Amino acid sequence: MERIGILTGGGDCPGINPVIRGVVRAALRENKYELIGLLNGWQGLLNKDFVTLDLNSVSGIVHRGGTILGTSRTNPYKIEGGSEKCIKNYKSLSLDALVVIGGEDTLGVATKLYKEGLNIIGVPKTIDNDLSATDFTFGFDTAINIATEAIDRLHTTAESHHRIMVVEVMGRHAGWIAVYAGIAGGANVILIPEIPIDVNEVVEILKNRKKRGKNFSIVVVAEGAKFKDDSLVIQEEKLDAFGHVRLGGIGQMLSERIEKLTGFETRVAVLGHIQRGGSPTALDRVLGTRFGVAAVRLIEKKKFGRMVSLSGIEIIDVPLEKAVGKLKTVDMNLYDVAKIFFG
Ligand code: F6P
Repeated sequence: MERIGILTGGGDCPGINPVIRGVVRAALRENKYELIGLLNGWQGLLNKDFVTLDLNSVSGIVHRGGTILGTSRTNPYKIEGGSEKCIKNYKSLSLDALVVIGGEDTLGVATKLYKEGLNIIGVPKTIDNDLSATDFTFGFDTAINIATEAIDRLHTTAESHHRIMVVEVMGRHAGWIAVYAGIAGGANVILIPEIPIDVNEVVEILKNRKKRGKNFSIVVVAEGAKFKDDSLVIQEEKLDAFGHVRLGGIGQMLSERIEKLTGFETRVAVLGHIQRGGSPTALDRVLGTRFGVAAVRLIEKKKFGRMVSLSGIEIIDVPLEKAVGKLKTVDMNLYDVAKIFFG
């Protein structure tokens, strides 16, 4: 029997459970694998904290958000002797392969450990959709649907009160959620980390809108967006194990500046972790399932150091290194489409 380990690291994301289920169901059909789930990301490998996964462990989870394995932002390379311990434990747990479900940080660690000899397959996970080498990550579709529904709801209250509503969505380095949810929700301005915010330009758009008789507006802003003359707006200076500060607050700042410069009553809504919680959409369930099954096919072929990926409507595989080399920022052709509807 060969032994496959699975771990989930970084922020949780709707669609992780369908991936785990896909891996377990596809692997168990082959009658030559047994599976263990390492708990709470890299912490599970560092502490040999795991559960055995069988058919019943993954029963009834396709629709469930979060991850049945738990997650953490533990970075073995930031812990004295951490990577050595991971390698030692991989061997003592008799693992033949490890499926790592994660975003840029978790897959960055996976890439390094693969180079140190572990048989790793990566699965791209993030609601932010900012991983290179895949057209989409799972979790993104759920996040944009939640954000779009929120924008729809904020529309009716903005309209009734003749207010400006600033909606802060997630997106640390890239504004994919802001652009997709903004277009879908009919936002009047969309602000993203890729383009520094020019408040005067925003004010101009909102004033012109008012001139044509529209006395409410929706402004969508990604949490990682910054003002032209400022640095990132953060909630907490403390860095996590991957060197990230806690973002949040740009919506509030922006709303104060808009109110001051326009005189229009303005409110802010921060969607935060609501975008990451709860049931995955059908699209994310299917994408997660396909990724999970594809990861097992790569293990069968002993194609390690690869990440499963979506290219058009096909599932392909790419070198892990390619996925973590560079972040995928918003396509400016798409942003140009969004801009047509500003105002
Ligand atoms: O990377 C996904 C993400 O949701 C980002 O959009 C956000 O900045 C971050 O995670 C929040 O992390 P945490 O759950 O640690 O607050």
